[in-house]
Amino acid sequence: MKRKTPQPLSLATRAIHGKQLFAFQGPVAGPIYQTSTYRFKSSDDAVRYANGDPTVYVYSRYHNPTVHEVEEKIAGMENGESAALFASGMAAITTAILAVTKSGDNIISTPALYGGTYRWMRDELPKQNIGVRFVDPEHLEEIVRLADKRTTIIFIETPTNPTLTIVDIAETVRQTRKAEKKLNRPLLTMIDNTFATILNQDPFKFGIDVITESATKYLGGHTDILAGVVVGKEKFVKQVRALGKYHGGCADPFAAYLLGRSLKTFELRVQRQNENALALARALEKNRKVNRVIYPGLTSHPQFQIAKKQMTGFGGMVTIELTPSKRYAPADAAAKVCDRLTVAVNAMSLGGVETLVSIPVYSSHIFMSDEELKRHGVTKGMIRISVGVEGIDDLINDFEQALDTI
Ligand SMILES: Cc1ncc(COP(=O)(O)O)c(C=O)c1O
Repeated sequence: MKRKTPQPLSLATRAIHGKQLFAFQGPVAGPIYQTSTYRFKSSDDAVRYANGDPTVYVYSRYHNPTVHEVEEKIAGMENGESAALFASGMAAITTAILAVTKSGDNIISTPALYGGTYRWMRDELPKQNIGVRFVDPEHLEEIVRLADKRTTIIFIETPTNPTLTIVDIAETVRQTRKAEKKLNRPLLTMIDNTFATILNQDPFKFGIDVITESATKYLGGHTDILAGVVVGKEKFVKQVRALGKYHGGCADPFAAYLLGRSLKTFELRVQRQNENALALARALEKNRKVNRVIYPGLTSHPQFQIAKKQMTGFGGMVTIELTPSKRYAPADAAAKVCDRLTVAVNAMSLGGVETLVSIPVYSSHIFMSDEELKRHGVTKGMIRISVGVEGIDDLINDFEQALDTI
């Protein structure tokens, strides 16, 4: 029977069906190819592989059908030509950057990044003779001055972890175009879209070239896998895959299966997280034990206007800074609140269905000097909240009783 698929398909539909709409008569839930290698029908397959035929499966560090299905689904969701899945967000980010950056080159980045990415840029890239030039997100015009003939990538993260600073994506791209004019050659713009996700922010719409994302977080959504993804033009993703084969940070088939399963409820989960986060942020704004609530969806957020311009939802992350107390040092007060929560879980990571809290100076922002913390806007009395999908009244009550103890 001939069927016509209505176009364009919504994000929710693409997240459930991937590219499999009426494509084959197999199982509704894709199988897990839990295998390291593949049986050749005959050595002709090996010859075809050796001659560069990409459709021959040979070894799971190179490719795996379960991983491939999820890559296709994510590429479809994010409107990218191609996607490569990795073992973690860090594997995705580092492989994507190193795929096009060699000794003597440099990259330009905003400094307010997930701590792991920042420390890798600060400590590891210089060992490979790769320079990192940090640009203040309030002065993106600096990109034009900083870019030189060895610059490869302009990297941003927005909203940032954990201060939820908003970097103007369109302005980043505009300044990069100016720098390209100056250099008379193209530069690659790359964004870590982990906090926003494609539901709340579509970087390709603003002209960004590459999206990286820790799929451990909202895409996975259930706090049970590690994964990362790079989405972009086919030619670039091919380069990333080629390096990924050597570095070996390939996605595990079982993790890929769980990720594919989780994507089916991606929109439902993240929509609820958006709603819960806004409601919790508004409630915490009224609590006198809280000095500052940082949430891009609040009009009090310093970059609310930029957030409104580039985000269609404001995400599930809320950061609070406690009111200074006479009884406790800021980090002790933060620890006490985290210890008293009963619904929210005191654990690192984010993006899952359960609400998690963490103290940035003890988690994402360890091994940083006071000067660096200041530059990143991280203070000792901060608590980062990854809002889950629980009943909102339960969450508000839980935070209020925990804050009452300090
Ligand atoms: C914004 C952001 N990017 C990247 C990463 C790294 O992801 P992974 O832990 O999956 O390697 C994290 C982890 O917390 C993150 O928050």
